[in-house]
Amino acid sequence: SILDTVIDNEIETEGYGICGGGIACSTCHIILEDTVFDKTLVEDPWGEEECDMLDNAPNVTDFSRLGCCVH
Ligand code: FES
Repeated sequence: SILDTVIDNEIETEGYGICGGGIACSTCHIILEDTVFDKTLVEDPWGEEECDMLDNAPNVTDFSRLGCCVH
């Protein structure tokens, strides 16, 4: 997942992915370009948990996903 990439590459993102991919925090919120966003919907369709968590994320757009749910 994008979260794994951030962790594996030790990218400094304070507070990012604080629940470790448990779909319980929404801190891994990402906003994608429209074409990339469409591709993620094919490869990693929405789950109910992700939709619920995104409701709690700040500044959600039509192209928002959770980084722990996108590969
Ligand atoms: Fe917590 Fe993605 S890491 S919801």
